[in-house]
Amino acid sequence: MHSKLIQVAQDARKRAYATYSNFHVGAALESSSGKIYPGCNIENASYSLTICAERTALFSAIAAGEKDFIHLVVATENGVSPCGACRQVIWELCGDIPITLVDESGTCTETTSSELLPRAFGQKDLGLT
Ligand code: THU
Repeated sequence: MHSKLIQVAQDARKRAYATYSNFHVGAALESSSGKIYPGCNIENASYSLTICAERTALFSAIAAGEKDFIHLVVATENGVSPCGACRQVIWELCGDIPITLVDESGTCTETTSSELLPRAFGQKDLGLT
């Protein structure tokens, strides 16, 4: 169904720089303009500087001028869910969007940002929306 996005995420996963964990993650983020932004995790010898695939894709899309997103795919070996930090950033920049988690065999699990981060802290809590 989201075959193009899934392919982009799986291809991006092959470009992960995961020297320390050897856990390779790919992401593909579709904007409402129809463009797809890939992301992969990029680790560092100073471990805490590592960035996840999801945030790489999001920050790259924002840097390209995108503001509105419609779907995120995350590709891993075993189809795991995004980490807590990424859930918060996805919520901030995408709001409630569909998220597809795909494993190496192509098996997909469908979820959403609000399902992954219920009762999220966000702009409304600062009185901004
Ligand atoms: N990782 C991601 O890229 N996305 C996630 O949501 C979970 C974790 C990366 C970070 C690190 O490079 C490796 O996976 C192991 O934690």
